[in-house]
Amino acid sequence: MRLTERPAWRALAALAAQPLPHLRELVHEPGRGDYARLSAAGIELDFTRQRINRAVHDALLALAQDAGIEAQRDAMLAGEPVNATEGRAVLHVALRGGADAHPPWGSQLAVEIDAELARACDFADAVREGRVRGFGGAPIRHVVSLGIGGSDLGPRMACEALAAHASDAVRLHFVSNPDPAQLYAVLRQADPATTLFFVSSKTFTTHDTLINAASARQWLLDHGCPAQQVPAQFAAITANAARAVAEGYLPQQVFRFWDWVGGRYSLWSAIGLPVMIAAGPHQFRALLDGAHAMDTHFRNAPLARNLPVAMALCGIWNRNFLGAPTQLVAPYAAPLAKLPAYLQQQDMESCGKRVDASGRVVDHATGAIVWGGLGLDGQHAYFQLLHQGTHLVPADLIGTRRCEVPLPQARTHHQLVLANLLAQASALSCGRTQDETLIALSAAGLPPREAARLAPHRTFPGNVPVSLLWLDTLDAASLGALIALYEHKVFVQAAIWGIHAYDQWGVELGKAIASDMQACLARCEVPKEMDPVAAATLASLVG
Ligand code: F6P
Repeated sequence: MRLTERPAWRALAALAAQPLPHLRELVHEPGRGDYARLSAAGIELDFTRQRINRAVHDALLALAQDAGIEAQRDAMLAGEPVNATEGRAVLHVALRGGADAHPPWGSQLAVEIDAELARACDFADAVREGRVRGFGGAPIRHVVSLGIGGSDLGPRMACEALAAHASDAVRLHFVSNPDPAQLYAVLRQADPATTLFFVSSKTFTTHDTLINAASARQWLLDHGCPAQQVPAQFAAITANAARAVAEGYLPQQVFRFWDWVGGRYSLWSAIGLPVMIAAGPHQFRALLDGAHAMDTHFRNAPLARNLPVAMALCGIWNRNFLGAPTQLVAPYAAPLAKLPAYLQQQDMESCGKRVDASGRVVDHATGAIVWGGLGLDGQHAYFQLLHQGTHLVPADLIGTRRCEVPLPQARTHHQLVLANLLAQASALSCGRTQDETLIALSAAGLPPREAARLAPHRTFPGNVPVSLLWLDTLDAASLGALIALYEHKVFVQAAIWGIHAYDQWGVELGKAIASDMQACLARCEVPKEMDPVAAATLASLVG
């Protein structure tokens, strides 16, 4: 039976067919906070401004129950090959499992994971303490992370989020793109004699990364590094350790993770080495512990009290029953500026699927377009569309209750940030009616005719679904819990949609064509069999 034919789905469709009261009414629902405010692992989720009432909430929970979420979750946590098209387990949670007495994935694997984490942490300490030296004998001062997608977005985001803990001894740089401008911009700031390169690639076959690694090697050679000393200024982070060693990376500087860690879920592995160096191994372990706390909550909490389940169900309601095509993530904490970009890969590469697990094309919407940026900057850029445009854009607003920036006026700054977060949550959800607008314009002294003329342009329809996510303060543990919360939200949404969340076949066609195009450009050739449009473009480039 197709998902859309299931009674639980049809019950929701029936509820969606009867328009709910406006959020400015729904926020007065008795006992709303009892089911729509949840907290766990240091995160508070407030979805009282989502366009649901208790009846919809109960029907959404019934959908989750019907999808067998708990059984699917337990299968993943038990290490079953839930990544069915690649025949792999999905066990990024094992990377933060800590020394649990009896992890479901087996104590031998836990020992291996802990050992590899210790290796990476020890290496990070060695770099931070100046015990890793460049070809001139001076301590490493620059670490350049070469990687793309999940091998870049996680470390880059976490290093910025934890910048308050940044090491003064070592500067972190990130290069993801094969455009030489990005590598050049970093190399201009670095000193060849004190620069260490991380080549981060799960497969160790990603051309975008390997071309940067080759140019980095040439840069060292061009700047006086003896050929035999080049490998000492590289470390490889990969699930393909054999290939890295075969390509000349020093085995003691090859850090491995496993094929059951998806690229977009690999921050918790040695891919997080830039974070271990920038913020320190202690902070990285706190990140893992925060994620572990959310894992434990996800594993144990009943569906009705489960934060990832609640977020996923709001997402399903907005996507499938309110028809919202996108999901905004707007942090009101500046160090989280890169979180939306990280969540784009996590969610869209997981849920951007059109075929269900049985191979049938789905007859319902799946993954939303995830986008966003810092909320306060967005208010001065694109929030106009959220308030008065023609798209319904559900918004996750992320705030911290406390701000620990050591500036005298930090508290006043933070109050302004909080005031804007609260204002946007209220304005987006409750809006301002035309009558209220007329009153406001008249109170501002506008003559009645002018007020009547302007009122339609200054009315706020509201009814935009908003979730608030509160961290007590932004630290490694709360960051870990927040990321894990979104990871498990993605899992639950995909499980309900019945799609495979842990493969990404959609990236392979572009890669194959790019490889052919690269060969044509290198040979200045335009193949006869190429379609005329592509041929014309290629011809314009090969001269
Ligand atoms: O092409 C998509 C992708 O495979 C992502 O899933 C992955 O994070 C990225 O490319 C980088 O892959 P790798 O870490 O193997 O270089």
